[in-house]
Amino acid sequence: MTTTSDSARAGAATPGVGRLGRGARFATRWGLGHAVPWTAIRAQARGGDLHAAALVRSTGSETPVGLFDEIRASGPLHRSRLSFITAHHATVKEVLASPDVRAGVELRGQGALGRMSDWAQTTAPMSPIRPPSLLAIEPPDHTRLRRLVTRVFTARAVQRLETRTEEIADRLLDDLPQGEPVDLVERYCARLPVRVICEILGVPESETEMVRGFGAGAAPSLDVGLGVTELARVERSLRDFDAWLTQHLARARRRPGEDLFSQLAVARDDEGALLTDAELKNTAGLVLAAGFETTVNLIGNGIALLERHRDQRSRALDDDSLWGGVVEEVLRYDPPVLLTGRTVVRDTQIASVRVPRGSVVTVLLAGANRDPDVFPDPHRFDITRAEAHEHVSFSAGRHYCLGAALARMEGRVALQRLHERHPDLRLLPGAERRPTRILRGYRTLPASLG
Ligand code: HEM
Repeated sequence: MTTTSDSARAGAATPGVGRLGRGARFATRWGLGHAVPWTAIRAQARGGDLHAAALVRSTGSETPVGLFDEIRASGPLHRSRLSFITAHHATVKEVLASPDVRAGVELRGQGALGRMSDWAQTTAPMSPIRPPSLLAIEPPDHTRLRRLVTRVFTARAVQRLETRTEEIADRLLDDLPQGEPVDLVERYCARLPVRVICEILGVPESETEMVRGFGAGAAPSLDVGLGVTELARVERSLRDFDAWLTQHLARARRRPGEDLFSQLAVARDDEGALLTDAELKNTAGLVLAAGFETTVNLIGNGIALLERHRDQRSRALDDDSLWGGVVEEVLRYDPPVLLTGRTVVRDTQIASVRVPRGSVVTVLLAGANRDPDVFPDPHRFDITRAEAHEHVSFSAGRHYCLGAALARMEGRVALQRLHERHPDLRLLPGAERRPTRILRGYRTLPASLG
């Protein structure tokens, strides 16, 4: 089977694609994928389009939940000038469960524009949002691939990891400098999930920092509107990640261990077929990157919210059973993934609105989490909220996050251990949000440990 990734990887060595050809393809990817759409989005935002304004205002700042309320108030499925969009909880779930949509958004033109886009993609690096990534494929391929991953990525396996996660958290806390300000994102939130997921995938400890660097470099790849230098940096990180994954795969095939990567390398589907190299590499890459680029935000957002609500932090410190609720409410209130998108594959109805084939539907996960029909007084942060787990921060339907149980466990361990060890923790001025729009979290959280 030839996939986008196969051709992308081959791109660098494709006969006839010299330096000039690669440069032209890169420029086209940037123009069609970033420069043109972002100019249009900014113009629409200036013209008062709510969807465009929400995208523009999500950059490096608090999530613009007021705009999401406006979008929801205009109806369950709002038609913006960019796409259909919803911040309505029931409609979000309807879209995500619909057999009439496929994952992903390809704002590709038809005819010449479409051909140009295909041409430019031939030298693009592997990406978590292009096939054969689980996030970009649909049944039957999606069912087959996902079944293989869930077979080795079970709830019991996650449970077994809890003690190891506690050890990792404790070691990181032991290493924090005492008596001086510390950036909790750099020293704690970012390090814990990457170490855990690397252990799951059998990545040696000495390579953890390098892998973290690939993830951080590639995180903006989900966003539209990157500058030319930024896109070049993102693509370089994706290529380095791809090259490293190739080596790691060869190592796992030579000396298979107990880790998920080795198990995936030998796992056979119902027809007895192994994963192709591209599927294996892309799946492991997705699990690895999704495994820490989101959980880092859950932990950081949790620290910031508990600082703002110290009374609730004290309650959790007095009653261990509340930490699970802390994690659910942090996920609901400040979700690490802002939105996702779907493309409609046949004429359909969503929330009783006719939606033609080819339409894009933007699903505001962070907006659905503030729907007052499901969450009374939705802008109040409350760790005892009974319905907090109804949030859609892990998506819904067939693409529901595969790592949800792991992320919940890591979030709980990380927040509980940090605050138990440092009950007088205080955040210092200088906290900064990450500049990424879709992945939501903090770049720095300077703190005094007390
Ligand atoms: C707080 C942390 C996390 C959040 C908020 C999160 C969020 C999400 C969301 C929103 C999706 C679906 C996107 C869509 O429907 O288009 C997703 C899918 C996925 N996540 Fe997570 N995730 C987290 C942690 C993890 C972890 C720890 C792992 C891996 C161990 C992981 C692996 C995956 C995979 C493999 C998929 C693709 C599933 C599919 O398409 O079938 N995630 N995640």
